[in-house]
Amino acid sequence: MPPTSAARTATTVSLVTGATRGIGREVVRQLAALGHTALLTGRSPDAARRAADELREGGRDGARPDVRPLWLDVTDDRSVAIAAAQVADEFGRLDVLVNNAGIAYDTGQHAVTADLRAVREAAETNLYGPWRTAIAFVPLLRASAHPRLVNVSSEAGSLANMGGGTPAFAASKAALNALTRMLAAELRADGVLVNAVCPGWVATDMGGPGGRPVAEGAASVLYAVTLPDDGPTGGFFRDGRPLPW
Ligand SMILES: NC(=O)c1ccc[n+]([C@@H]2O[C@H](COP(=O)([O-])OP(=O)(O)OC[C@H]3O[C@@H](n4cnc5c(N)ncnc54)[C@H](OP(=O)(O)O)[C@@H]3O)[C@@H](O)[C@H]2O)c1
Repeated sequence: MPPTSAARTATTVSLVTGATRGIGREVVRQLAALGHTALLTGRSPDAARRAADELREGGRDGARPDVRPLWLDVTDDRSVAIAAAQVADEFGRLDVLVNNAGIAYDTGQHAVTADLRAVREAAETNLYGPWRTAIAFVPLLRASAHPRLVNVSSEAGSLANMGGGTPAFAASKAALNALTRMLAAELRADGVLVNAVCPGWVATDMGGPGGRPVAEGAASVLYAVTLPDDGPTGGFFRDGRPLPW
C-alpha cells in the first residue's frame, strides 16, 4: 500500500529503542528539542506512553515537543515488524534509527567462569536486538534523504582495550561494533551514515551512581545523529572523538 501522507511530516523522524528511561529517554528529549518527531519506543507500551507524556509535558517555554510512544521490544520479531509497519504507514520513511536498548553490565562475572546463559541473553538484546531492528527499518531508512543509524555501544566492546570482566556485556558490544562496520559498508551506497557511539560512564540504572549526567551521555549519541551528509560512516566515537576499535 503506498504511503498515504508521505509529505505527512517535513520534520526529521527519529526512532530510539529502549527509551523508557536512562540514556534513550534523554536522547528522545534532546531530539524532540531539536524539532524532530521523536518516536519513544519501549518494550512496555505503558512505560513508553508514560515517558512520552512526561516529555511532552516537560517542554521548555510552553513548547510541546513531538514525542510519540511506540511499542518495540528488540528481542521480539513480531514487535519489531509491527513497529516498522506502523512507521511505514504513518511516515513512509525513517530518518534516524538509534539502537540504544541494552542490558547486562555484568560486573560480577568473569570470562573464565561465565554463565553462558547470561552471555546469550545479553547478546539477544545488545547484538541481535539492534541487528533485528536494523533489518526491519533499513527499507525505511533508504527512503530518507539524510538517513542515520546509530548503535549505542561501549568502550567495553573495544578489542584494542579489551581486558577481563563484564564478559556478557563486553562480548555483545564488541559484536555490535562488528555489526556497525558491516552495516556501514553495505549501506554506504545508500547514503546511510552508520556509526557506533560510547556514551561514557553515565549515571543511569545501568551505570549506577558516580557516572556523568545523562544529558552528557545522550549528547555523545546525538553527535552521530546530527552528522552532515559528508560526515563519517563506520566509525566509533565518544563525545565526537574517535575511539579505537
Ligand atoms: N550507563 C552507562 O554507563 C553506559 C555505558 C556504556 C554504554 N551504555 C549503553 O547505553 C545504552 C543505554 O543504557 P542506559 O544506561 O540508559 O541503561 P538503562 O538505564 O538500564 O536503560 C535501558 C533501557 O533499555 C530498555 N530495554 C532493555 N531491554 C529491552 C528490550 N528487549 N527491548 C526494548 N527495550 C529494552 C529498558 O527498558 P525497560 O525499562 O523495559 O527495562 C530501558 O529503557 C545501552 O545500550 C548501554 O549498554 C551505557
